[in-house]
Amino acid sequence: MIPRSFINDLVDRADIVDVVGQRVRLKKAGGNHIGLCPFHDEKTPSFHVYADGHFHCFGCGAHGTALGFLMDYENVSFPEAVEALAALAGVAVPREASSRPTADPALYDVLAAAAERYKDWLKGEPAAIHYLKQRGVTGAVARDFGIGFAPDGWERIKTALDRFGEGKLLDAGLLAKNDSGRVYDRFRERIMFPIRETRGRVIGFGGRIFGSAGEGQPKYLNSPETDVFRKGRELYGLFEARRSGPRLDSFLVVEGYMDVVALAQHGIGNAVATLGTAIGQPHFEKLFRYADEVVCCFDGDDAGRNAAWRAVEAALPALSEGRQLKFVFLPEGEDPDTMVRDQGRERFLALMQGATPIGEYFLRRMREGLDLSQVDGRAMLRELALPAVQRLPAGSLRASLVRELADLTGSEATDLERILERIAGAASANVGRAGRAPSYSPGQQSGLAERLLRALVAQPSMLAGLASAERARLVEATVSDGLIGAVVDYLGATPDADTATLLGRFMGDAAHAELVALAERPTVLGGAALAAEFEDGVRRYLAAHARHAQRALAHDVADRASMERYLVAKRQAVAG
Ligand code: UTP
Ligand code: MN
Repeated sequence: MIPRSFINDLVDRADIVDVVGQRVRLKKAGGNHIGLCPFHDEKTPSFHVYADGHFHCFGCGAHGTALGFLMDYENVSFPEAVEALAALAGVAVPREASSRPTADPALYDVLAAAAERYKDWLKGEPAAIHYLKQRGVTGAVARDFGIGFAPDGWERIKTALDRFGEGKLLDAGLLAKNDSGRVYDRFRERIMFPIRETRGRVIGFGGRIFGSAGEGQPKYLNSPETDVFRKGRELYGLFEARRSGPRLDSFLVVEGYMDVVALAQHGIGNAVATLGTAIGQPHFEKLFRYADEVVCCFDGDDAGRNAAWRAVEAALPALSEGRQLKFVFLPEGEDPDTMVRDQGRERFLALMQGATPIGEYFLRRMREGLDLSQVDGRAMLRELALPAVQRLPAGSLRASLVRELADLTGSEATDLERILERIAGAASANVGRAGRAPSYSPGQQSGLAERLLRALVAQPSMLAGLASAERARLVEATVSDGLIGAVVDYLGATPDADTATLLGRFMGDAAHAELVALAERPTVLGGAALAAEFEDGVRRYLAAHARHAQRALAHDVADRASMERYLVAKRQAVAG
């Protein structure tokens, strides 16, 4: 990526008369220059080049800066045009690794210092040490996991780390702010479990109440999402698990922090837990980077079974050849912590050895309550199972599921493959141009988004000109609408960006060409007319968005209702 500031400077400093004049015969007219437009056929000159750095053709509407001119005239890409202008100016083009905002590195320092402080505080807190001991956690394991203690009081960590400044402590999630603006320690009187990323840097904490502290508080309080703490991707215990052995064959996914710690205490070092959220595809992608097998260990109750089913759905796209996912269900009322303490390491490991492979679990769940001796039941199984199978990458799991489904439903495997292709076709037709799952996107359907994009590309400052409430609604409405969402998001954060800056931001993105095409497409409107057109477009977009949102909601409700009806019918069939 080329830094935006560099592009701005370059455009500012470029001598557009020189750049254009080398390619188009210009003659002086007043303070400016005119010539025959190179972008359309004309006999009398309507192509104007202005000393302030832009050109405009009154015949075809083409306009832009020296950069845009070079791109169109020489038919080169944005980076090539930048290179050409830089060469004219006699400067080298600097490159940044990426334009993605990286997290403030100071946050890692703040969090590391907090972890150290919590560890120190634990040493002076016999009640907390007693609690950990009574749960079977030894000093060695507490040290491996960096377990600490946040004392009672509203400003303990705030005072201890005030050298970093309140802003950084807030950004790191260590402090919270109440409605009246008071800033105080988020974690008070809790046992602190630091959460580390794969390289071992602390990115957040989970804090458990203990003893008689705080009735009605959440048992575990977690750091909020921050620039470094992404609950949807990180796993508790992953760093410690990878450190525990040279190369792991498998991971054990459990539900609780204490489960991870208790298993490590019993010499089972490959356990990880999500951060109080359901397990998702990014979690699986991460785990499968380090081992080929993941065993999910859930409670045997309804909640555990639901969690397992969500895990199946999340894991499907990640299950490429050679990767294995298995499930273990514990007896009701037990968790891995209590199991390993009661039964010991060997029995626990034997239980894990007997885990059910996903293919078997999947089919068992799918056919629950269906009568496969009936045509209806067989059709229902196909209907339920195939959309999930379609989400699996090609490989032996997919092939064996297709074979088994063919057997169970009395179909030919080739017929099932044909259905799978149809499902895949329908799914990909639904994916928007930004590659996102289909949500409501009025813009793509109606051209409204393109209208907004074109106006914003011509004059990015118009976004900042909207009333703030309207701007906020636009940000929210466009968020899942592909390119317009990205542009609105960027301009919201960078209100003083001009066209070149905006294009520069998207350089290297697939969307760049699309934006350039919009920028170079003539707009006849200028100034107030363009602003009015933009504001009208925003109103229409928001109205269309509201309609689509309602419709999507109605669909969703209808889907759920039919799913519920189906489940009720299925249950009744099983009971009867
Ligand atoms: P559990 O309630 O099963 O906790 O929640 P646990 O790990 O077995 O804890 P102990 O044994 O009572 O100490 C499982 C996980 O759900 C999240 C935490 O990640 C916890 O480890 N959780 C639970 C929260 O985030 N907040 C809560 O209030 C409770
Ligand atoms: Mn527990």
